Amino acid sequence: MDFVSELKSKSKFIEEKIKRYMPKEEGYQKTVFEAMNYSLDAGGKRLRPILIMEAYKICGGKDDMYIPFSAAIEMIHTYSLIHDDLPALDNDDLRRGKATNHKVFGEAMAILAGDALLSHAFETILGESVKSIYPERGLKASYEISKAAGIYGMIAGQVVDVESEGMKIDKDKLDFIHKNKTAAMIVACMRVGAILANASEEKLQAMTVYGQKIGLAFQIVDDILDIVGDEATLGKNVGSDIENEKSTYPSIFGIEKSWEMAQELVEDAKMQIKDFDESNEFLLNLSEYIVRRKY
Ligand code: IPE
Ligand code: IPE
Ligand code: MG
Ligand code: MG
Ligand code: MG
Repeated sequence: MDFVSELKSKSKFIEEKIKRYMPKEEGYQKTVFEAMNYSLDAGGKRLRPILIMEAYKICGGKDDMYIPFSAAIEMIHTYSLIHDDLPALDNDDLRRGKATNHKVFGEAMAILAGDALLSHAFETILGESVKSIYPERGLKASYEISKAAGIYGMIAGQVVDVESEGMKIDKDKLDFIHKNKTAAMIVACMRVGAILANASEEKLQAMTVYGQKIGLAFQIVDDILDIVGDEATLGKNVGSDIENEKSTYPSIFGIEKSWEMAQELVEDAKMQIKDFDESNEFLLNLSEYIVRRKY
């Protein structure tokens, strides 16, 4: 199978699994279930769940213990997108090719759907971990995710991102934003896969550095696509960063230089996984896809 077909089939596989953990749209609180499912079902690359799956496999994991973690990371990521699009944050009206959550369900329900996805993610992984034959691995992996999504991870990045609108910031602060708002969750995916597979300290470290590199590259490319991307292909608003006067790699270094920096990061990332015994071919291709993607 070529890389693109393999990527599509993996994301389809993940989507079916995620559905299993989502609530039926019934009960008095039905609206929030509809709002959660609306954004989760809208599509998306499913990059983070696939990274957990690949990290797990490359570290020698054999069974399907990673699945609830893949589902949960996508729930948290989707919550972060719903909140990121709110009028008080980036104020966007297109996401995953559809109207943003607050445009359809209103701000109150969009906020609650985000909150619900975050809590439901932990309900899912902790619930599965206590039932698992390796509860301590599940617990450790859950802790990784809680840190990455929290005040020293994604929230830290989002706070500084919002506070820096309309300001000139230096590379140090820009890297703080990118490393936290985006790379932290990507690093967590790699670490979760490794922890669930009971990887050695050395492999865990390689997974961490790999995640840091592709995480930063991923956000640099996101910022480039916000300028040169095609709205229909991207499925989200183009020009959002300029509109919000965000500091980004392209706004500081220009598009060409930013692209080179992203490519370099991906090359460095690939070095981290070149000596793993399990097949690393898909992950090597996925690393390159991060800079070559059009959405
Ligand atoms: C968008 O993430 C938000 C960032 C952290 C840059 P993705 O580009 O992975 O969005 P989906 O999941 O494919 O919609
Ligand atoms: C958002 O970064 C990162 C998140 C934590 C959601 P962006 O604001 O650049 O993401 P997009 O471009 O809206 O997807
Ligand atoms: Mg944002
Ligand atoms: Mg945004
Ligand atoms: Mg963006």
